[in-house]
Amino acid sequence: MKEDVPMSGGARVAELVEALTEALADVVRRRHVTEQEWYDALAYLGEVGRADELILLSDVLGLSVLVDRQAHAGQGGTATSVLGPFWRPAPELPNPANLAPDGTPGEPLVVRGVVRGVDGAPLPGARVDVWQCDADGFYDVQVGDGSEVGLRGVLSTDASGRYEVRTIVPPPYEVPKDGPVGRLLAALGRHAFRPAHVHFRVQAPDHGDLTTMVFFAGDPWLGEDTIGADRPELTVEIDRSGPVATAMFDILLVGNPG
Ligand code: BEZ
Ligand code: FE
Repeated sequence: MKEDVPMSGGARVAELVEALTEALADVVRRRHVTEQEWYDALAYLGEVGRADELILLSDVLGLSVLVDRQAHAGQGGTATSVLGPFWRPAPELPNPANLAPDGTPGEPLVVRGVVRGVDGAPLPGARVDVWQCDADGFYDVQVGDGSEVGLRGVLSTDASGRYEVRTIVPPPYEVPKDGPVGRLLAALGRHAFRPAHVHFRVQAPDHGDLTTMVFFAGDPWLGEDTIGADRPELTVEIDRSGPVATAMFDILLVGNPG
């Protein structure tokens, strides 16, 4: 079968299983993997599955980011990123939106920008779903019984395509490291940190959905992201020259074909 002919169903599965088996067999042969090592590895993967950490394993191995970048390579528009484990449906808020009610710990931050198509035309009524961690580095789903919504919301861009979100400056945080993936990171001598970021999911009629995140210049973990997702084109400055810190993050959506 020719390389560039897309296959479907069983043929594609067979192609991928064959390629994966070859790659693994190559490691077994070249590294002289022992019986003990092989069955330990299988037991470990079972443990990762039971802990529901298979996606996290793919994340820290850099495979989630590789699949995302390959899927969206060359499409134009704002660079994409992975969804991560902490998205959940959020309340619809007015624009400007306040994700951090008075008393929320952390340095206040206003993130604003314009959502446009790649042709430069502003997109009014685009749906902007935003979520981030709190000042301690935890998402609302990780706090208490996870039922309280915090630091997330969905807003619609105004007639000029603008959105504005009042939140806090997120800190860098560690991905969950109390399970088998954390044990692997420790065994490899790797840290679990991600540079500070705010997640976005943006949708507009006649345009492809965008999942991405924005990072902040000067973060000590930039270039060291444990999932390898940070990228210069998604990194913005925080401006502290005014009464409240602000960051601008403009978003370009790719139009649907046709
Ligand atoms: C996140 O950014 O929320 C995230 C992504 C991958 C693994 C863990 C956390
Ligand atoms: Fe995150």
